[in-house]
Amino acid sequence: MRIIVGITGASGAIYGVRLVQALVEHGVETHLVLSPWAEKNIELETRYSVPEVRSFAHRVYEVDDLSAPVASGSCPVHGMVVAPCTMKSVAAIAHGYADNLIHRCADVALKEGRTLILVPRETPLHQIHLENLFRLACAGVVIMPPIPAFYFKPQTIEELVEHHVGRVLHRLGIENDLVRVWDNRGDK
Ligand SMILES: Cc1cc2nc3c(=O)[nH]c(=O)nc-3n(C[C@H](O)[C@H](O)[C@H](O)COP(=O)(O)O)c2cc1C
Repeated sequence: MRIIVGITGASGAIYGVRLVQALVEHGVETHLVLSPWAEKNIELETRYSVPEVRSFAHRVYEVDDLSAPVASGSCPVHGMVVAPCTMKSVAAIAHGYADNLIHRCADVALKEGRTLILVPRETPLHQIHLENLFRLACAGVVIMPPIPAFYFKPQTIEELVEHHVGRVLHRLGIENDLVRVWDNRGDK
C-alpha cells in the first residue's frame, strides 16, 4: 500500500508526524509533503526537527515541486491524508485550487476516486469553513477532525494522538491496536 501524507500549518503537527511513523510501522510506503507552515509548526510544537520528520517517510517531495511523480494521476497510490489540515488548505482543496503539491495531490485523489482523508484543525469554525468542509464531504472526502474521545480515560496527550491516528489508519483499512475500542461489556 502506498499513501501520501500532507502536513500543513495547523496546530497539531504531531498528528501528521505520528501518522507518518504509524504508516511506516504498519508496512505502508509513505510519501510525505510538508508545507512551509507545517515545518514552522513542527519546530514550534513538537520535539522533532524537520529533517527528522522527513527521514521518517520513504519519500519526501518539496511542496512547490508540481512535477513530482505523485502530482500525476498515473502514479499508483491508494490514497492521501492531510493531517493536520488548515482552513487555507481546506479551501484550496474544496475549490480545486491546486497551486502546491499538497493541494495538487488532493485534487488528484479526488479526480481518481481515491480515498482522501482530511484532519482539519481550527476553532471556532465560521460559515465559510463549514461550507468548504461540507462541499468536500459531498465529494466523498473523509473529514476526521482531531476531536478526542475520553471513554478510554486517556492520561497523556500522546494517548489522545495515538487514538486519532489509529482511527485514521482504520479508515484506510489498516488494522492496528492504536485505537482503544469502546467496550463496556468487557472484563474489567
Ligand atoms: C502556530 C500556528 C498555529 C496555527 N494554527 C492553525 C490552525 O489550527 N488552523 C488553521 O487553519 N490555521 C492555522 N495557522 C495558520 C496557517 O498556518 C496559515 O493559514 C498558513 O497560510 C496555512 O498554509 P498551509 O495550509 O499551506 O500550511 C497557524 C499558524 C501558526 C503560525
